[in-house]
Amino acid sequence: MGAHARTSGPGVAAGGNGPLFAGIGRHPSAPAGQAMLATVAAPAGRPGPGSGDFAVDLENFSEFGAPTRIETVDGVRYFINEFWTSRQRQANRIHEVSYRACFKPQLPRFYIERLTDPNDIVYDPFMGRGTTPVEAALAGRIPYGNDTNPLSRAFTEPRINPPALSEIAARLEAIPWQTYTQAQHGELAAFYHPETLAQIEGLRHWLLERQDAGRLDPVDKWIRMIALNRLTGHSSGFFSVYTLPPNQAVSLERQRIINQRRNQVPPRRDVPALIARKSRSLLSSGVLPAARALLLLTGQSHETPRIRSGTVALTVTSPPFLDIVDYVTDNWLRCWFLGIDPRAVKLSQFRNVDRWQRFVRSTLVELARITKSGGHIAFEVGEVRNGTVRLETHVVAAARGLPLNVLGVMVNQQEFTKTSNCWGIANNRRGTNSNRIVVMRKT
Ligand SMILES: C[S@@+](CC[C@H](N)C(=O)[O-])C[C@H]1O[C@@H](n2cnc3c(N)ncnc32)[C@H](O)[C@@H]1O
Repeated sequence: MGAHARTSGPGVAAGGNGPLFAGIGRHPSAPAGQAMLATVAAPAGRPGPGSGDFAVDLENFSEFGAPTRIETVDGVRYFINEFWTSRQRQANRIHEVSYRACFKPQLPRFYIERLTDPNDIVYDPFMGRGTTPVEAALAGRIPYGNDTNPLSRAFTEPRINPPALSEIAARLEAIPWQTYTQAQHGELAAFYHPETLAQIEGLRHWLLERQDAGRLDPVDKWIRMIALNRLTGHSSGFFSVYTLPPNQAVSLERQRIINQRRNQVPPRRDVPALIARKSRSLLSSGVLPAARALLLLTGQSHETPRIRSGTVALTVTSPPFLDIVDYVTDNWLRCWFLGIDPRAVKLSQFRNVDRWQRFVRSTLVELARITKSGGHIAFEVGEVRNGTVRLETHVVAAARGLPLNVLGVMVNQQEFTKTSNCWGIANNRRGTNSNRIVVMRKT
């Protein structure tokens, strides 16, 4: 596959739900405005020559010692192996923001390295925290992403072309923290010390004001992204007193009960200091994602007219599964900080497998349109309902009649599931523990 020319032209910065074009990436130590592309790793080529046929490459895969096991069920080939592992080369720390049901960066990396060349477009229609687009940018590909949840773009955009640490420090200095001494939202005292709450409210107010004035810049967006991630959590690295992990904010009522049970009162936390600390941590891998062109959308997976037909080389994605997440309850605090109404976010949620399959079908129709001939789609469904529902069979069924050739289903078995049979339920007491990925090729 040759290098792909940029054809989609996402060259205009746009507010709202439009596409965006961010400038050239900078190293964290570079002064503002100074392009430092040379510090970004050379775009990764493919790990080996490959056979030109991805199914054959999967068959021959033995990077971690074991050969691939192949089983055929209902005419579909399953490739079973440990294709990637967390023991492998550590992922870039820029990924370390928490998001419900995110996948490991090793998953998109596996496909990006093997199925694309530098400057190819790599896309995720359900990008979540942005694992696929961020990994694509790290590999010198053109990152495209979409998610119906506006939080998703707020998480992803700042981590592609991140600002320099010096810029973040200067901005944290410039925010007039001392003017915000009185918290308005006293009810949030279940989570925060009054002085911490005043700082959080001050930052929120300051960011929203800049947004309304059209002055929110990449450094503000970075600070907002970190603040969103630090709002609540279970360690002293978060703004809140001990609570559930950060992607599952509890209600005020529930937090009051947690406080009572643990006999705790929210301690004072220094908001700018914690933002600076998390920034240093996220930017500590040295090599940072950079993309001259990118396209990040907030919308429905089956309706992405801004993506031109036949332009995407690879999609790596994971749709919402069958479980119902109470988005409003889960995200109320993050939405409050971002100034959006959580009830307005249209997440697709299904209890019923047939409806889920129809939803996947509509997304595959759109993916078939935007994927270039010979391009690939890796559609991850994990293992749900203790392995009793094999969602991958529904993805295969949803692809029928579309110009997509199903190469097979990859089962990435982690070490602790290796001895179990991959359809079994014995090892699945704790939910998803192996990735199942339907791999398709556009004809
Ligand atoms: C399993 S998560 C994806 C996580 C992602 N792979 C990551 O690493 O963060 C599924 C995502 O689908 C999004 N979603 C749900 N319904 C959608 C729809 N109709 N169109 C686009 N995105 C949707 C959710 O907001 C959620 O972020």
